[in-house]
Amino acid sequence: MIRSFLSLFVVLLLLLPSPSFPAITKSSGKKGIKLTKKGKGGRQPIKLSGNKKGRSSNTNGQSSRGGNGRGGGSEGSRRGGQAGQARASQEDDIQASSQATGTIAQQEVPPSDPPQPPPDTDEAKITIVDPPDGSTLMGSSFDLRIGIEPLNLEVFTDSYNTTNSRVCVALDDGPLSCWPVFGGKIRYVGAIDGSHSVQAVLMRRGEIVEETRTDVVTFTTVEDPDMENEGGEGEKEQNEDEEMDLDEEERVSLDMPGLILQVPPERVTIPGNAVQIVSKVSTNQSELFNKYFKHQYACYNVDAGTASSCWPLLEAHSVPYFANLEPGLHTVEGVITHPETNEGIEATTTESRTFYTAGANNEAAAVMVEIEVDKENHYMPVCRGSDARNQGFYFCGSRGITLETCPDFVAEKIMVAYNAL
Ligand SMILES: *[C@@H]1O[C@H](CO)[C@@H](O)[C@H](O)[C@H]1NC(C)=O
Ligand SMILES: *[C@@H]1O[C@H](CO)[C@@H](O)[C@H](O)[C@H]1NC(C)=O
Repeated sequence: MIRSFLSLFVVLLLLLPSPSFPAITKSSGKKGIKLTKKGKGGRQPIKLSGNKKGRSSNTNGQSSRGGNGRGGGSEGSRRGGQAGQARASQEDDIQASSQATGTIAQQEVPPSDPPQPPPDTDEAKITIVDPPDGSTLMGSSFDLRIGIEPLNLEVFTDSYNTTNSRVCVALDDGPLSCWPVFGGKIRYVGAIDGSHSVQAVLMRRGEIVEETRTDVVTFTTVEDPDMENEGGEGEKEQNEDEEMDLDEEERVSLDMPGLILQVPPERVTIPGNAVQIVSKVSTNQSELFNKYFKHQYACYNVDAGTASSCWPLLEAHSVPYFANLEPGLHTVEGVITHPETNEGIEATTTESRTFYTAGANNEAAAVMVEIEVDKENHYMPVCRGSDARNQGFYFCGSRGITLETCPDFVAEKIMVAYNAL
């Protein structure tokens, strides 16, 4: 299948500087979850029952974001190290890179010369390895692979292996989508057909490091003829019962999971110009879900962009994060990817959530509301149009204030400030 070649895996390669770069760009061309044809053995295809109406009532699912009750314990051992988390199909790349660097190291350091200490800097050379510049990709989803070559791995790790350090990517000059520098898997789904550009940059402890900005890489996505033959989502759903009869023994049936956006809440102002997305999976089959969606993603599209950015569903350390948002009104919607196609499952698409960003200097805020918490004054920027009560819940929640009267108290303050305008 042509698709297989184009479904490139993401791995943040941390390489010691060496001329062995070509060895690492070898792409494995294997997919994590394959659609297995009847009678071939191997993995079982998955059927999702379209039970869209019932999904909001399935509230005892596990949370996939935000840290509470997360169902990611079954992932096995995780590698936070050199080459990100290895899926089976990434192992080729990783072995290739470690062998290559090992060989080079022996050649470059003759036994008589004492090795030079690496420079005391967290500088690194960042390049977008995949997709290659000028390439054409089949289908609407793609993985991004970013090569990072630190001058001094230890110093670099100290700087960038922190929760607010990230590698960020701007697709088509849109806002930045950010992933952990170590072990981040970068995927996009639902890209509109046509020409795209990507540029990456590192964020160190919340600040963009301009020197690390990569060249712009451009590529084109074209409709995948294979997908066309399989028909659209709607057609598939109609055929599901029939398929079920044909493949009964091999198919796994799961109720349609749901994705529920929790943060940002509807019409709330977020301070600054970045937002962290928190959502929750709803399913009453947590075990099956965790088994079959282990390698799947939750993808978010901000401001009706040209594609949705994806973060692994069940990896606690990879938190969906958008930065460099223009001050003012924004929208976001989410979707879960399908274990067979790796594309978004349309039925899991969330409602479109509206929120505001105040901007780095609160330039979009209509009012600054002053709230005293434990004898300390807090200033909360609020854009015109914000929902006072939701804003209250957000303020109290993000400061861990569990006092029942807190949201109403804050909402009241906001109303007073609005009325004074
Ligand atoms: C999950 O919920 C649906 C209805 O929402 C129900 O039909 C199904 O039997 C439930 N599954 C399990 C495993 O409880
Ligand atoms: C990064 O930090 C995490 C914990 O904070 C640790 O488990 C991991 O091994 C570190 N990764 C590297 C490459 O040092």
